[in-house]
Amino acid sequence: MIDYIKKLRPVGNTISTKEQSIDKQLFHPFHIQLYSSGTASLAATIMAAIKLKPGISNPEVVVPAYGCPDLISAIIYAKAIPVLVELEPDSPQIDIKHFENLINDKTVAVIAVRFFGIPERIEALYQIAKKHNATLIEDSAQGFPVHNMASYWQGDFVVLSFGRGKPLNLLGGGAVLTRNKTLINLLPDALPEKNSLKNYIKYKLKLFLYNLSIHPIAYGLITKAPGLNIGVTVYKPLNNLGRMSVCATQLLSSNLNIYRNRINPQKEYFEFFKKYNPELVYNLPEKLSYDMSQPLLRYPVIIRNESIRDQLYKRLKPYGASAMYKKPLYKIENIDRLLNQQDNNHPNASKFARQLLTLPTHEGVSRKNLQSIKAILKEFNRQ
Ligand SMILES: Cc1ncc(COP(=O)(O)O)c(C=O)c1O
Repeated sequence: MIDYIKKLRPVGNTISTKEQSIDKQLFHPFHIQLYSSGTASLAATIMAAIKLKPGISNPEVVVPAYGCPDLISAIIYAKAIPVLVELEPDSPQIDIKHFENLINDKTVAVIAVRFFGIPERIEALYQIAKKHNATLIEDSAQGFPVHNMASYWQGDFVVLSFGRGKPLNLLGGGAVLTRNKTLINLLPDALPEKNSLKNYIKYKLKLFLYNLSIHPIAYGLITKAPGLNIGVTVYKPLNNLGRMSVCATQLLSSNLNIYRNRINPQKEYFEFFKKYNPELVYNLPEKLSYDMSQPLLRYPVIIRNESIRDQLYKRLKPYGASAMYKKPLYKIENIDRLLNQQDNNHPNASKFARQLLTLPTHEGVSRKNLQSIKAILKEFNRQ
């Protein structure tokens, strides 16, 4: 009975409630500005990019055709037009040739997403963006380094999220980083936080409930509850640029320290898939030469047979597997009407959505969980 209820979450670590004042050197050599979320931080960078290329009547922002709907919310808030770029085949990275064809005088920015932590080909994108005076925004909501911070991030602006399901989860907040003092001064101000006792108590209560909810029994019960729709991909417009709460900011240093010392099972998946049938599974971190000394938020693989992907997802869901957004951005409800009409056909992005499977890498993945995950995967290796 208990085993029927138990379910491993796809992502998310325990949040330390130890308060510490934020160390100014924490993000050295970057300047930093905090906002209420990753989406607000991204919107702020797009507003700065528009200021950097003034006089454009309908500014455009290039964004990968498969990704988080919040990318579109940020672009719309900043009063720009989203333009979708195709992905390389079997990859979350931007198709460079397609980007070169898309970019034009109206393009103010390109958003390079670090999907699960895997970097974009920043140098190649940068060369093209600079020819058109466009800003390169590196969206690192899903990627956070454990060492070599300065070389990990390369964009003109870097966007971070401290929201639920992100590497450094504080249940909310976001940041913009940049090496350039002029760029940090172009970012819009955030609305001041109403720092009331009520907000403080609400935040502490949310932390307490979150730390309870990630336990497999609690998580299993929550996901079975009707109407909660946890993990469903929907488009939510951004309403304002808030400031990151003082309560969440005070947890940044202690949680960063824990994050840096966490054990991540990604190397075990990496070795396992190296010996797996390559006709069935495309081991993305291996194929994209990912630096395995840096963490992956989730372990991504491509399952080439779509019916097997769906079967594996169903079998591995209780062990924290996920199929992420399931559709490219142009097929997500309420986003289609925000796009140019020709932005409805990106076959690589669409195939990636149908074939992606991610496995959990968080602290709650036990040895027994890993053995169960591998045993299920092995069953399909024989078919
Ligand atoms: C790549 C990416 N960018 C931005 C965001 C938005 O971050 P937040 O949830 O903090 O608004 C997300 C959230 O899932 C994301 O995955």
